[in-house]
Amino acid sequence: MRYQTQRLAYPYFVVALLLFPLQVLVGLWLAANYFITMPQGLVDVFPFATARAIHTNLLVLWLLLGFMGATFYVIPEETGRELAWPRLAVIQLALLAGTGVSAVVGFLFGWTQGRPLLEIPLPLDLVVVAAALMFLGNVAMTAIRARRWTATQGALLGGLTFLALLYLFGIPFYQNAAIDWYYWWFVIHLWVEGAWELIVAALTAFMLMKITGVDRRVVEKWLYVELGVFLFTGVAGTGHHYYWLGTPAYWLWVGGIFSALEPLPIVLMVVDTFRFVRESRAPLQPRLTWIYIVGGVLLHLVGAGLFGFAHTLPQINYYTHGSQVTVSHGHLAFFGAYVLLNLTFMYFALPRLRSLPGGAYDQRAGHWGFWLMSAGVVGMSLAFAVGGVLQTYLERVGGQPYMIAAQPIRFWIFVAFVHGLVVLAGATVAVVHLLRLRAPVPPPATERAAGATVAVA
Ligand code: HEM
Ligand code: HEM
Ligand SMILES: [Fe+2]
Repeated sequence: MRYQTQRLAYPYFVVALLLFPLQVLVGLWLAANYFITMPQGLVDVFPFATARAIHTNLLVLWLLLGFMGATFYVIPEETGRELAWPRLAVIQLALLAGTGVSAVVGFLFGWTQGRPLLEIPLPLDLVVVAAALMFLGNVAMTAIRARRWTATQGALLGGLTFLALLYLFGIPFYQNAAIDWYYWWFVIHLWVEGAWELIVAALTAFMLMKITGVDRRVVEKWLYVELGVFLFTGVAGTGHHYYWLGTPAYWLWVGGIFSALEPLPIVLMVVDTFRFVRESRAPLQPRLTWIYIVGGVLLHLVGAGLFGFAHTLPQINYYTHGSQVTVSHGHLAFFGAYVLLNLTFMYFALPRLRSLPGGAYDQRAGHWGFWLMSAGVVGMSLAFAVGGVLQTYLERVGGQPYMIAAQPIRFWIFVAFVHGLVVLAGATVAVVHLLRLRAPVPPPATERAAGATVAVA
């Protein structure tokens, strides 16, 4: 770590990491609501919709805090100078954390705008906008003062600006429900399949350059290609949400064709990562960081590319729309693409922020965290998928009413719950491990020699 202001990433990571297990815990509560008939008195004070809002908003908040922390880490190094206004970054974190707490307490008392994922009411939206302006202003000013532009930094800033602009579309309330949902997807879809993908591509490129030592020109050339394909397919791909919304029929074609191409840039990211690994000039250490990088690109591909593709054609989506199939995809994609990317960046940055020599750390407990969490999420998503296919068959093919079809699905949500317990265990281990990273115990001499051989190979 070369710049003092890179340390600002640290408090962002800590807050993000504390929110993560809490978000998972509320997920378990949601699942329990499917297979346990809760007493009405409890449902009245803590309804499913409130818990769902807390689960998803905490998710989005901690992921965004992670991205911001990562940006504060990357920008000084890419621009070659300290962050312009470090104090502002602290105020921004306080504002966002305060918004999070107010939002959760507000939801408990019914203070909500109601639209899924964008529940926070207008006054809190305005605070978020203020914080976003502080953030973008701070990062842009640093880059302008430095007068040094790299593709990585440009992609990151571009993604972040796109992200902030899109949020504005979700603020007004449109009386016509079709129009309201139309713009809702500007935020939801264009975030996860547009702006956030740019951020992920930029952060991955940054990490790969730093740890593999592969030439910047090579990494950045492919970054441009990825970004172009992401934007091209992702923007028109929004159409896969406009099939049944009262929008013109051409969306069936546009959405079907372009969203079917969306896995392409994700495949490209996987191929690039593996190629840079092969060309790596540095040893692939620490191993756990590599497991995260590779696990991330692969589960990103499966969750978003494969599970997304599975229900993206209108002929299929006609049956699966809004079922547990969607929930299955939502979990695996969010986890594979954004949870793992955030944790990967933390595993990359935290040892450096803590000045551990050579960025090495004691990895032991961390492996448990990764495998429990990943196996848990994969199992949970498969259980949701089976429930979803069953639901689709019973409701959409067999014509059963929702509540009748819901009965046999309870078992599969229970299976998802059991896997969710494993996710919670893994997330807790990973978070505790990350928060207490320390220098490695020196390995025995034989293992060190073996490590060196692998690195040369
Ligand atoms: C890394 C961990 C997790 C992530 C990234 C995550 C993400 C999400 C997302 C994105 C949604 C909204 C889905 C949609 O709109 O289709 C959601 C809802 C939900 N999550 Fe999670 N979640 C996680 C952990 C869990 C766990 C451990 C459980 C427990 C089994 C769980 C159960 C649920 C349930 C039941 C819903 C509501 C689905 C519905 O509306 O029917 N989540 N979660
Ligand atoms: C990392 C990237 C992605 C994430 C995090 C993600 C997440 C989600 C979530 C949370 C939903 C549910 C929204 C809701 O109704 O509440 C959803 C819906 C959907 N996603 Fe993705 N997604 C990603 C990429 C993709 C890709 C690449 C495709 C297509 C190839 C895709 C296809 C779909 C479709 C068709 C729906 C609508 C399902 C329905 O009609 O109910 N997604 N996605
Ligand atoms: Fe989408």
